[in-house]
Amino acid sequence: MRILTGIKPTGSLHLGNYAGFVKSLLELQEKGHEIFLMIADLHALTDPTNIKKVKKIKENLVAEIVSLGIDPKKVAIFYQSEIYFHPYLAWILSCFTSLGDLYRMHHFKELTQNLKMKKEQVNAGALYYPVLQAADILLYNPDLVPVGEDQKQHLELTREIARNFNKKVKKIFKIPKEYLTQTAEIKSLTNPFKKMSKSDPDGCLGIFEPKNMIIQKIRKAVTDSEGKIYYNPTTKPGISNLILIYHLLIEKPLKEIENEFQNSSYKEFKDLIIEKFFEKFGSAREKKKEILLEVPQIVKLGKEIAFKVSCQLITEIEKII
Ligand code: TRP
Repeated sequence: MRILTGIKPTGSLHLGNYAGFVKSLLELQEKGHEIFLMIADLHALTDPTNIKKVKKIKENLVAEIVSLGIDPKKVAIFYQSEIYFHPYLAWILSCFTSLGDLYRMHHFKELTQNLKMKKEQVNAGALYYPVLQAADILLYNPDLVPVGEDQKQHLELTREIARNFNKKVKKIFKIPKEYLTQTAEIKSLTNPFKKMSKSDPDGCLGIFEPKNMIIQKIRKAVTDSEGKIYYNPTTKPGISNLILIYHLLIEKPLKEIENEFQNSSYKEFKDLIIEKFFEKFGSAREKKKEILLEVPQIVKLGKEIAFKVSCQLITEIEKII
């Protein structure tokens, strides 16, 4: 099976990224699939404040992904901006996409509703974002696209655009399926009703951040006053989130974790989470610096593979137009 996924380089990886993204890739790479992992650096520019930072962030991101076990021999890791076919195909696909569809995408709505920007002020790239994403995907004709819940809408639009092109022009695109992560979403340590995100740094556990910060954040994580450890996300959101984190770290069933900590205090539980965190990520944290030096070769290899495969579809397109 052919698999393609992408990650937008906006910062260093945190535990939420690990649960929602890295973990499923680690599983998929062991199954002998053909896998493309694209660093969506062009998408990162839709927030123009990223433009000067993106180079460092994406190199760092590749080093982190590889330190965590993604094998560049099994997964073609490449920068979207290095394969010029992406924006080229996006242009063609934009002619098969309605503005109405783009205006109703969450990504755009978030800018206009949550950030209260006027429609006229949003940069055209932010509106066009899903078309570029459709091109990222369709260029490789993948069977599966691993994404988080928040990207489902973009994938639906991708299929819509592909069907539209196939119907009006020629059947050249495979209709890709999404592959949703099985792992439960990790919440913020300070507000367990919200997804863990780097926009809330105190609630966000960076996998590669300094040891004392991690210890401090886990110690301060929101709990409740009951003093008992069991899983119930509605009445005990903080503790339940910590149980999920522990589950992610040691891969034991939730029931077993509940039994294990029946008679423990929250402090004891948190101390063990800290210990397991460093057991799980210690070697990745150590390796990162060394792997950073290998990033140029890693993405060069990825680019060669991505170029070769994407050429096939572009040749088809060229024949048509
Ligand atoms: N928009 C995705 C995100 O923010 C990143 C992305 C860009 C992507 N192109 C993609 C994901 C193609 C999957 C496939 O997470």
